[in-house]
Amino acid sequence: MIDRREFLKKAALATVGTIALSKSSSSFLQEETADLGKSKQTEELIPVVISTWKHGIPANEAAWKVLQSNGRALDAVEQGVRVPEEDPKVTSVGYGGLPDRDGFVTLDACIMDEKGNCGSVAFLQNIKHPISVARMVMEKTPHIMLAGKGAFDFAMVNGFKKENLLTKEAKEAWLKWKKESKYNSKKSKGYDTIGMIAIDKAGNISGACTTSGLAWKYHGRVGDSPIIGAGMFVDNEVGGAAATGKGEAVIKMAGSFLIVELMRNGKSPQEACEIAIQRIVKKQSDHKEFQVGFIALDKKGRYGAYSINKGFQFALFRNNQNQLLDSNSFLI
Ligand code: GLY
Repeated sequence: MIDRREFLKKAALATVGTIALSKSSSSFLQEETADLGKSKQTEELIPVVISTWKHGIPANEAAWKVLQSNGRALDAVEQGVRVPEEDPKVTSVGYGGLPDRDGFVTLDACIMDEKGNCGSVAFLQNIKHPISVARMVMEKTPHIMLAGKGAFDFAMVNGFKKENLLTKEAKEAWLKWKKESKYNSKKSKGYDTIGMIAIDKAGNISGACTTSGLAWKYHGRVGDSPIIGAGMFVDNEVGGAAATGKGEAVIKMAGSFLIVELMRNGKSPQEACEIAIQRIVKKQSDHKEFQVGFIALDKKGRYGAYSINKGFQFALFRNNQNQLLDSNSFLI
């Protein structure tokens, strides 16, 4: 159990850790203060797009094109996350994703707009862009989530192409893993989901989240990414949040919804991300064994990011500048 004094000590140390950030994070230094993320941001904060990990940089670029041309945040996040979905080098999202223990690439994704509309697909196979299927579920059906064969059939009827998503490299990695077939969540790969939140020039917010999930997972396993409120959540009155890392840990505490509710109750995006991570640390005693990272934006365009373990990065695009930033973490 972590008491408040310990939490504040860690938060202070984590903030000191910010000093060691890469050059690209200089504006983060200017913007974030030592008192747990109370923002002093003065630049033009909107439009803005934030996304998880290094693959957020090219994803943000695609999203920014939409935002710059007065496009809708919903289109921005869809176009943004399609970039890693089709990049075979990104082994945790879409095409090129590492398969489950039986050699199947199975995809999860969700999307949500400024009106609270949302769509989701889970355990979807052979479709390169699950995010676009999720959007179609949102726009063309009375439902929110389609899974497995039903999601695939829906995609086929709506013009998507059936494709093999298992690349040669991913298959080789799977065959190598199969020799031992050890399922060790500490060493497992493939948690590097892309979550993205954007606010457009009209001030409207949307979010998207897409992943191939945990590598070597049980066939049929679904993570947090397609679950509205866990992998991603937005509320146009408040802001939005998205998660990356061990989906099971995020689902247990409805991570993205929690962050939005904390912001609704007056916390800054940074404070909200830190409290959500602290909740996992407090309630999940094995937290040192896995990673979870959160990103958040509030309605004003202020951002936050925080993770359990060090090493989490996120990409922030605004004021015509796309930056890869190091998140602070609870464990340092
Ligand atoms: N956050 C991705 C997953 O656990 O599937």
